[in-house]
Amino acid sequence: MDCCCFWYVLSASPVLVFLSYLIFNKLFAPGQSPNLLGKHVMVTGGSSGIGLAVAQEVARLGAHVTLVARNQEKLVEAQQTVQATANKAKVLIRPFDVCSDGVEGMVADAETALGPIFMLVNCAGFSTPARFEDLSMQEVKRMMDVNFFGTFAVTQAVVRRMKQRSVSDSRERQGIVVLTSSQGGMLGIYGFTAYAAAKAALIKFAEALHMEVQTSGLSVTVSVPPDTDTPGFEKENVSKPTETRLVSETAGLFSAEVVAKSLVRDALAGRFYTTVGIEGFMLTTLCAGMGPITYFWDFFAQVFLTGVFRFISSFFLLNFDHIVRKEYAKRMNDKKRE
Ligand SMILES: NC(=O)c1ccc[n+]([C@@H]2O[C@H](COP(=O)([O-])OP(=O)(O)OC[C@H]3O[C@@H](n4cnc5c(N)ncnc54)[C@H](OP(=O)(O)O)[C@@H]3O)[C@@H](O)[C@H]2O)c1
Ligand SMILES: *[C@@H]1O[C@H](CO)[C@@H](O)[C@H](O)[C@H]1NC(C)=O
Repeated sequence: MDCCCFWYVLSASPVLVFLSYLIFNKLFAPGQSPNLLGKHVMVTGGSSGIGLAVAQEVARLGAHVTLVARNQEKLVEAQQTVQATANKAKVLIRPFDVCSDGVEGMVADAETALGPIFMLVNCAGFSTPARFEDLSMQEVKRMMDVNFFGTFAVTQAVVRRMKQRSVSDSRERQGIVVLTSSQGGMLGIYGFTAYAAAKAALIKFAEALHMEVQTSGLSVTVSVPPDTDTPGFEKENVSKPTETRLVSETAGLFSAEVVAKSLVRDALAGRFYTTVGIEGFMLTTLCAGMGPITYFWDFFAQVFLTGVFRFISSFFLLNFDHIVRKEYAKRMNDKKRE
């Protein structure tokens, strides 16, 4: 490229940015962020970790909350915690396994008590990290069941009702759905064969759902948390293969509050992905693919940074391979000594 052409492109880029901004605003912008005052938010997995932090955050913003989880005692404790965060919030608890029958009834009951659900946040989920050959089919099926089918079932029951109510042609957002995937659903990590598949399935589910419900004024957001300091994380940390732990640790450990705050902010903005940290930004940018365009700066980053991030990813992948080889050598040595 001769130097004149270089300057030409450089001076044209602000114009390109401005033009893409205009196009974005005309064709894709999800409109103003709605507010949550007096609205009903349902949080599955709301009794612990990220779900509980989300419930506190939406209650702080004036919403009424339904917490869904299996264990009644944990639910009662969580109800008090959320109530203490926002004393005016109505907090309903529903002991329910997201994999069981009767989702429609559970959702209908919650709506009778607190009004139409405006926002659904699916946080119920778990992982059992283990080497491929050590996973029992029962564990594999349970991971798919809770993380994928459970999320699918609750979302279907809620979205059916949201669509029936939705006022066509309204510029205002009619409802919000959040699915909780994982950074381990964007790249396959050692020890996460089944978990990665279940969490990746949620991403394509979300893309298809987004295209389907946009005409009803609904937005879909996928949460992509890194390692987050929660009771669930502490539990899985105990049995994790060392490789799994060392690879996922490279993205750092975040608090549930930080993850929940950005989840709520991004979901209100109608942003397709929500994550925290530099690695999260790199992953969601790299994995955007043919996903929906919902947020100008994300789109901008995807267009201009994908190639650079793919280059940088080689250093991460080399490091991951190094970790896996080192641990393998260690185990072989230990075996020899026995
Ligand atoms: N923490 C992390 O590092 C991390 C990273 C990436 C993604 N995630 C994802 O984020 C979500 C929340 O994780 P967390 O760490 O906050 O977990 P957590 O502390 O273990 O909380 C999980 C919540 O889900 C509920 N739950 C589990 N199975 C359920 C079922 N079958 N039906 C209904 N409720 C169920 C639990 O209550 P009961 O047990 O009483 O049902 C609890 O309220 C999960 O989907 C997880 O995969 C977490
Ligand atoms: C996870 O477990 C390892 C030991 O296997 C420990 O060193 C580390 O501190 C634990 N991390 C958390 C956040 O509990």
